[in-house]
Amino acid sequence: MFSSNEPKNDDMAQRVAALHQALHQHAHSYYVLDEPTIPDSEYDKLFAELQSLEETHPELRTSDSPTQRVGGKPMTEFATVRHMMPMLSIRTETDTEASGAESFDARIRKELSLQENDTAVEYVAELKFDGLAMSLRYEKGVLVRAATRGDGEYGEDVTHNIRTIGQIPLKLSENAPEILEVRGEVYMRRDDFEALNERQRSKIAAGIKGEKTFVNPRNAAAGAVRQLDPGIAAQRPLSFFAYGVGEVSTVSWSTHYDLLKTLKNLGFPVAVQVNIAIGATELVAYHQKIGKLRDALPFDIDGVVYKVNSLALQQQLGFVSREPRWAVAHKYPAQEQLTTVLAIEVQVGRTGKLTPVAKLAPVFVGGVTVTNATLHNEDEARRKDVRVGDTVVVRRAGDVIPEVVSVLLEKRQNDAPIFTMPHICPVCDSAAVREEGEADYRCTGGLFCSAQRKQAILHFAQKRAVEVDGLGDKLVEQMVEAGIVRTLPDLYKLGFTALSDLDRMAEKSAQNILIALQNSKQTTLPRFLYGLGIRHVGEATAKALVKHFGKLDTIMDATLEQLTQVADVGPIVALSLRTFFDQTHNREVVEQLRACGVSWTEGEASSSTLLALSGKTFVITGTLPNLGRDELKEMLEAAGAKVAGSVSKKTHYLVAGSDAGSKLDKAHELGVPVLDEAGVLAILNETNVGDDS
Ligand code: IVH
Repeated sequence: MFSSNEPKNDDMAQRVAALHQALHQHAHSYYVLDEPTIPDSEYDKLFAELQSLEETHPELRTSDSPTQRVGGKPMTEFATVRHMMPMLSIRTETDTEASGAESFDARIRKELSLQENDTAVEYVAELKFDGLAMSLRYEKGVLVRAATRGDGEYGEDVTHNIRTIGQIPLKLSENAPEILEVRGEVYMRRDDFEALNERQRSKIAAGIKGEKTFVNPRNAAAGAVRQLDPGIAAQRPLSFFAYGVGEVSTVSWSTHYDLLKTLKNLGFPVAVQVNIAIGATELVAYHQKIGKLRDALPFDIDGVVYKVNSLALQQQLGFVSREPRWAVAHKYPAQEQLTTVLAIEVQVGRTGKLTPVAKLAPVFVGGVTVTNATLHNEDEARRKDVRVGDTVVVRRAGDVIPEVVSVLLEKRQNDAPIFTMPHICPVCDSAAVREEGEADYRCTGGLFCSAQRKQAILHFAQKRAVEVDGLGDKLVEQMVEAGIVRTLPDLYKLGFTALSDLDRMAEKSAQNILIALQNSKQTTLPRFLYGLGIRHVGEATAKALVKHFGKLDTIMDATLEQLTQVADVGPIVALSLRTFFDQTHNREVVEQLRACGVSWTEGEASSSTLLALSGKTFVITGTLPNLGRDELKEMLEAAGAKVAGSVSKKTHYLVAGSDAGSKLDKAHELGVPVLDEAGVLAILNETNVGDDS
């Protein structure tokens, strides 16, 4: 008899069959249709479950199991290519923590029978690009064929599309081997992907049939590579990185690193992040370094790859089934996961903006547990058609707020209604209106609305404004709910008793808050002005206003015309300032804050037109050797320049560092002068000299 917690063999076989079916279906959507139905992490989970069932019950492993082949079936529309050297897959280190690198090194050392005090193994550590594998065959230095991986043995001939990728050489120099198969990854840069989707959205909006947007850069790249019409493929900007070779007639290198150097010399793009790493310690350090860099890269990676550097050792290590023992992929925590929508709530922001937010069943994604994802606004919520009960893909990359990428429609079980925005504020019941041409609904309650009050206080107290240390979300919520703080000046009228009467407020904490409030009184005018939370007045605008006018009263009384004289201020910002200071209660708030002792040193008006770079617009792109982008932005703004986000005819200079992408192309196209770090510093230095004289 089976005990109750031991699954029956029948159940096991059924589960295996269900996994086969699910994995086949997802693989078809992914490889053949380029339309994944679930995130990779989910696929990996199902795959791992099947692998482990097959390991414990080998009798359930059949030749048609998804574990027995590398990828999808080649699509019939393309000519089939047989890879003379199979395109292999690499083992994935399941441990996403840094210790995964240690396990790999331990395995290698064991395979090589190395003792503890033998020298460390030399590896090459590379990025694991999130694109699609490609084999480029050169004969006598000429590109004769480009093929996808397919099932590893048979791929698809996509030469016509690959020829459209500018980064891939069509002809190699004289010294290239007679036969050379370069293996690497075709991918799409993130900025190219965004631009492509933007174009797709306008096509859809224009009613062009059969157009769609892409879920992520990898799918967009896969779709472009497998376009039947090379004309369309050419409009989808693709890039390439080489990471290895297949068949080669003469091998002139003895390490993987030298192979990569050779490929680079032959004109193939090789990622600059390739590093030699000695032993586990350096692999771990690489994993951590790239983990921090990941979101700043201009393209997606899903991990790093470690390879034994010596080709002799690679040969000694050999293969297990279809995977080399000498390489491993070490992934980072997935940035996309599946979860369900528990509710859709509408939150009210500082300026009254209503934001629909999907409340999610907690899910670990991008390194944190996520329970909320913004749906941005009514149009976005409609476009995604997220409904309560839905299974959705959530994405969290870097510090970007989590978002719902897509809904798994086939999993929708209920008939939950389409989400609509409320026409009254969910917090204060005031009317919520959407002005023409605006994407957002706004609560018209102003400071009558407790949600807006809370946000206004949090905004004022934040680090970048007057900074009241320790005054966080929960505390402000309590203060507003208890009615002890209604307006900003109320903060400075708080007494010890009122504070310590709040729930869970220890005497010591109450004292600390009072000290922090006291400390916040000495501030600067830009911080104070920014802290008032005037719509459209961000930190940079506040700084520009103060630089221009010097004193708060001058700003408060400036006319629309005077306001628009300021470098950073256009008609919308000017109107917002005027509207704000025309309201008596706002002026009263300022007066009361001053009366409570909030103070700053006022400056002199310095007409910003006197600044050396005023009227000049700069754009910064890529990674600069020494300066951070924000740092350079501040320096330029201090000299009166405007720093914009995209290159246009109005741009005076583009400052480009390494890895500059489409902005650099655009600048070349429009004839905008391009500066490197030294160039922009020279301009800034000149302006300093000018200031001194
Ligand atoms: S090496 C024998 N290096 O990851 C080793 N693969 O299963 C063959 N990939 O889809 C692969 N970046 O396209 C290698 N730096 C890198 C890679 C890389 C991405 C992809 C590859 C394949 C999968 C490996």
